Amino acid sequence: MRTIAVLNQKGGVGKTTTVANVAGALAAAGQKVVVIDLDPQAHLTIHFGVEPQTITEGVYEVLTQAADFNASLMLVRPNLWLLAANINLVGAETELVNVVGREIILREAMQASRDQFDFCLIDCPPSLSVLSLNALAAAQEVLIPLQPHFLALQGFGKLLQTVDLVNKRINPHLKVMGVLLCMHDTRASLSNEVRADIETFLQSARGSNNAWSGAQILPTFIRRNIKLAEAPSYGQTVFEYDPACNGAEDYGKVARFLLGMNEMPAPVPAASVPAPVPAAPTPDPPSNDPAPAPPAAPPIPIATVNLPPPPACSPAPVRMEPRACSPGLAPQADPLPPAV
Ligand SMILES: Nc1ncnc2c1ncn2[C@@H]1O[C@H](COP(=O)(O)OP(=O)(O)O)[C@@H](O)[C@H]1O
Ligand SMILES: [Mg+2]
Repeated sequence: MRTIAVLNQKGGVGKTTTVANVAGALAAAGQKVVVIDLDPQAHLTIHFGVEPQTITEGVYEVLTQAADFNASLMLVRPNLWLLAANINLVGAETELVNVVGREIILREAMQASRDQFDFCLIDCPPSLSVLSLNALAAAQEVLIPLQPHFLALQGFGKLLQTVDLVNKRINPHLKVMGVLLCMHDTRASLSNEVRADIETFLQSARGSNNAWSGAQILPTFIRRNIKLAEAPSYGQTVFEYDPACNGAEDYGKVARFLLGMNEMPAPVPAASVPAPVPAAPTPDPPSNDPAPAPPAAPPIPIATVNLPPPPACSPAPVRMEPRACSPGLAPQADPLPPAV
């Protein structure tokens, strides 16, 4: 199982959106995926249409060793299991403060289940807390979503240093896979400048023994797309909400990158291409697609895959009424990472 912690101590950069939609794409492509909602705000849990108040066995219960990891997983889509968050998770930090080995509870809890899944994606909270440390101790790879705007790089060095510390002290397998640019506008010179700065920074670490020495900016990025912000209001991934939108295309490409499918797939015969889910409320405005027109290419199966309806889960995911989208948290100050 590849375990990927999706981490950035800033809020509102695209962590939850990335976990939900990459997991949705991987599961639809036949991979067995488990997602873990380590954020007390429970946005990932809500994104899959599950009410956090209904969760009696979730991340908090696993971290406090009141519940078994495997038994707490909910099947929320075919091939896709969720370890959900509930409000109790807010208190986990304080409750675990005197627990010896508190950073590795999740890793140990997951150990027996590793062979059952192909991917585990962990949605981290917007802090470098004991919850994030549990993610870093359990993962082999770190993916950093980053919104390339003013101050985007503030705290980036500290984030990498924290990963490096965890790598040196508690998890020698941990590496930074890379940076995923989210809400990227290729027309904005600031976005391109931030991108260039990150590239220079990462290049300077090549050949070192840092945990980020092999990190790259992912060759694909996520454009700003309103459908990505709307989909969670319906408890859906973007592939269910609007499989033809830019957001579905972009996250499909990220999933393909993770699967090592960087080449365009062989043309799919028209008859075997699944029909898109008829959920597209409105087409994307043309201005939403700043990327140059791609060469004529066959459809990307992951981005167009037609998901069957979710199976019954225990408890059943609750289809939520549309509600205002989360504005995300304001960027946080850099807390010093706890001693690890
Ligand atoms: N590419 C995008 N285009 C438009 N809105 C986005 C995009 N990615 C995320 N959002 C929205 O931005 C907000 C913050 O994203 P989120 O994934 O929750 O960030 P984080 O988990 O880092 O706090 C959410 O309302 C989300 O729906
Ligand atoms: Mg989040």
